[in-house]
Amino acid sequence: MLDMYYMYPIALKEGNGIQLKDTNQKTYLDFYGGHGVISIGHSHPEFVKAIIQQVNQLAFYTNAFENPLQDELALLLGHQSGYDEYNLFLSNSGAEANENALKAASMVTGRGKVLSVKGAFHGRSAGAVGVTDNPKIRAAFGSQLVVDFISIDSLSELAEHLNSKEYAAFIIEGIQGVNGVWEATTEYWKLARKLCTQTGTLLVVDEIQSGYGRSGKFFAHQHHQILADIITIAKGMGNGFPVAGTIFSPQLVIGKGMLGTTFGGGHMACAAAISVLKTLKNEDLITKSEVQGGFLKSEISRLPLVKTVRGRGLMLGVEFEVSAKKVRQALLDEFGIITGFSDPEVLRILPPLTVSLAECEKLVNALNQLLTKELELLLESNNIQTVTIN
Ligand SMILES: Cc1ncc(COP(=O)(O)O)c(C=O)c1O
Repeated sequence: MLDMYYMYPIALKEGNGIQLKDTNQKTYLDFYGGHGVISIGHSHPEFVKAIIQQVNQLAFYTNAFENPLQDELALLLGHQSGYDEYNLFLSNSGAEANENALKAASMVTGRGKVLSVKGAFHGRSAGAVGVTDNPKIRAAFGSQLVVDFISIDSLSELAEHLNSKEYAAFIIEGIQGVNGVWEATTEYWKLARKLCTQTGTLLVVDEIQSGYGRSGKFFAHQHHQILADIITIAKGMGNGFPVAGTIFSPQLVIGKGMLGTTFGGGHMACAAAISVLKTLKNEDLITKSEVQGGFLKSEISRLPLVKTVRGRGLMLGVEFEVSAKKVRQALLDEFGIITGFSDPEVLRILPPLTVSLAECEKLVNALNQLLTKELELLLESNNIQTVTIN
């Protein structure tokens, strides 16, 4: 294997709900969801059944032939997300969903420039990384893309850029994930919507991490009562089966044959994605996400050394008075609890939406023990200093 990823020396081999087991039989609680991917829980019986049934029937056939499962998926998705009239294009990864969104936006508007947000993460392929605010992961190849980055909290910057009428698209995450869980205000979203309409710019909302119920609504931008022109989805959509999509407003006419992919919308991917949508509905997981997330947010906010808890539903970011990296490592080493991390120093909580209140309490109790110990250590070292100075 190409040595590419920074990895924990842990090999996971089994999952059930939010529990994981490694090759040494050690168990873990998954408050990371494999980077926000596991939506309906590991090995959910409906998900397993759907995939087994489909592989026995037909694993794959090309998009040159009709696939009724795609229509079933699109109908369910439209209905459950509230975007009934929109059109779905299926692909395989978040980056690809964003590539398709930006390419289509450019084709429809005839413009080449894209506006993005500081701290944004949209993927690693040339176009997606071009609108990602991290020059360290870009190459010279693709450097001809013209992208401007604006602050997530400046209405005047937003207005100034959009009013130039130079941009094909304004791309923004429903809630910024990789950057440490930051969200634009409702005022910002509403202004973006109004100005995109006025200036012929397409509003592309990346819901790859924040979508599929994670925020307590189907899409995070729906907390701000606005409609997007294009929405991108992946991660939670397949609960671990690779599937992604780009959802287009019916007003956008995209030439036949302009987008395409071999594997996108294959039979297995559709079966997985349909079982996820059915389970989200049958188990009322979006409400659960709001309730358990609300519990976690208020309980964690009260713990010692917690500076702030950001985010919504089960997409939370916690800043501490101490190193979040250290807290994350201690959660893993001492309690077998897996969480995520963002630089600089944000602990990220992204469990499957099936997480129970009892499991949330385990995380709160573990954090409480760790942070109380940290506080005692801090107080001790302060006392020693005082004694030394005196
Ligand atoms: C908001 C967002 N967009 C896009 C992506 C890229 O998705 P993928 O890794 O499936 O290409 C990610 C992945 O972390 C993401 O968080």
